[in-house]
Amino acid sequence: MKFFIDTANLAQIEEAQNLGILDGVTTNPSLMAKEGITGSDNIMKHYVDICNIVDGDVSAEVIATDFESIIKEGEALAELHEQIVVKVPMIKDGIQAIRYFSEQGIRTNCTLVFSAGQALLAAKAGATYVSPFIGRLDDVSTDGLDLIMDIRQIYDNYEFETQILAASVRHPMHIVHCAKIGADVMTGPLSSILALLNHPLTDIGLQKFLEDYKKGN
Ligand code: G3P
Repeated sequence: MKFFIDTANLAQIEEAQNLGILDGVTTNPSLMAKEGITGSDNIMKHYVDICNIVDGDVSAEVIATDFESIIKEGEALAELHEQIVVKVPMIKDGIQAIRYFSEQGIRTNCTLVFSAGQALLAAKAGATYVSPFIGRLDDVSTDGLDLIMDIRQIYDNYEFETQILAASVRHPMHIVHCAKIGADVMTGPLSSILALLNHPLTDIGLQKFLEDYKKGN
């Protein structure tokens, strides 16, 4: 399972990269705004900065919502760096654009996916990644993990190559459950990844080992 970090914060991306377990980065307009990155030139530069830190795919989201503009924006993003994956919303023009990009060899991440039917469409269009938002489904009392299971089954039935990128991950058990189901990738905040480290028996055991070592030396 690939680990992506869902942030535009360069310090956090660097921390995850230095940990040696990072496979990529996902961003969205809200995450860019959170870091105070505004204006097309600054946003483009920030994507390149991210690519220069991480060894792996970096999802950069288009703002356009009509086919022609999505193509123009997506091509400009793809030209920025070979690691860029063009993130396209799950709308009619987005699906048409994903098909176009797929034929041009431009990799895509179909975002804002909340149903199995949407994920099927994204795969049919040739998306490289599909991003079901599991945390946001949980927020409205719908089990996001059920969606990951449904998509896994559908993609396996037809051997779709689109990778399931479980997004809107909120906590470590989301990651564990996604791994059990067979999601190809997870993306979430660094805190959810670091929380995988925690177990009280590890802390107790380490403390005891260190104490016993001191006694014998
Ligand atoms: O980047 C897409 C997705 O991961 C957003 O997550 O936490 O804003 O629902 P969240």
